Amino acid sequence: MHTVTLINGDGIGAEVIPATEQVLRAMNLPLQLRYADAGFGTFQKIGDALPKETIALCESSDAILFGATQSPMEKVDGYISPILNLRRRLNLYANLRPAKRGDIDMLIVRENTEGMYSGRERVEADGQIAILERVITVGASERITKVACEQAMSRRRKVTIVHKANVLKETCGLFRRVAFDVAKDYPDLQVEELLIDAMAMHMVQRPHDFDVIVTTNLFGDILSDLAAGLTGGLGIAPSANIGSGVGVFEPVHGSAPDIAGKGIADPRAAFLSASMMLSYLGYVDDAEKLRRVVYDTAHTGNTTDTTHAVIAAL
Ligand code: IPM
Ligand code: MG
Repeated sequence: MHTVTLINGDGIGAEVIPATEQVLRAMNLPLQLRYADAGFGTFQKIGDALPKETIALCESSDAILFGATQSPMEKVDGYISPILNLRRRLNLYANLRPAKRGDIDMLIVRENTEGMYSGRERVEADGQIAILERVITVGASERITKVACEQAMSRRRKVTIVHKANVLKETCGLFRRVAFDVAKDYPDLQVEELLIDAMAMHMVQRPHDFDVIVTTNLFGDILSDLAAGLTGGLGIAPSANIGSGVGVFEPVHGSAPDIAGKGIADPRAAFLSASMMLSYLGYVDDAEKLRRVVYDTAHTGNTTDTTHAVIAAL
């Protein structure tokens, strides 16, 4: 028996996660499913986006399925994004973001704990200057590259290291050096590098050439949306946050306030995230079955109908 905590979060999270719950229940696996609160809505209600009770439930589960959170553009005093908080708190240093369609089959391995997301931002000179410290460490660069290389070994055995070391000589320079060092331990892999800007172009022009892509936090954030755009959109882009703590599985899409509450959100990214979760929990065959069914099911434009179609096909 495995315990899974479901967090709707904000916006369409409250539609796609309950839909995923139905799919998981229909699969009759030994899973205990329970809900916990988090998100901007929760923050507005109780002043905390990730309540203690939620943290306790998360820490005592085998996996977490997370919907989406609203991320306000402006700074809101006291608000910390619960997904960033969970990634950091559970030390989920690797964000795995697969993108598949036709002959395109890429896996973006995004560093999840530092870089531009260090949280070290401040203003000086009476608000005239804003400064961010981009932190890159040997430890985090090593472990993320290891994850990428291990993943590549069970795929097409190719790793592309993406950085901007020609300009960011210290930070990206360190990431690049460490990544190549770690990759030396995997002589069976083809290892190459590309600058982030060139990568954006090559990914559009020859996406089928890429297998595993390893990169720093913000570059990975951007490239994973690009990869999603190339392979069917955010509606079918799943992700896994893994590391030393309990894995968190989340669709790449956000809370989509423009369509929230209308019953039209595409639940397939959440279903595919659940498939990644099943595989992580050891239900490898069920994970594969769910993945196949989801890729074979079109989104009807209605969350409930798509959910029923997936359940019927299972
Ligand atoms: C993602 C999202 C998050 C991120 C936001 C919502 C904090 O864009 O998961 O890709 O930047 O990591
Ligand atoms: Mg993103």
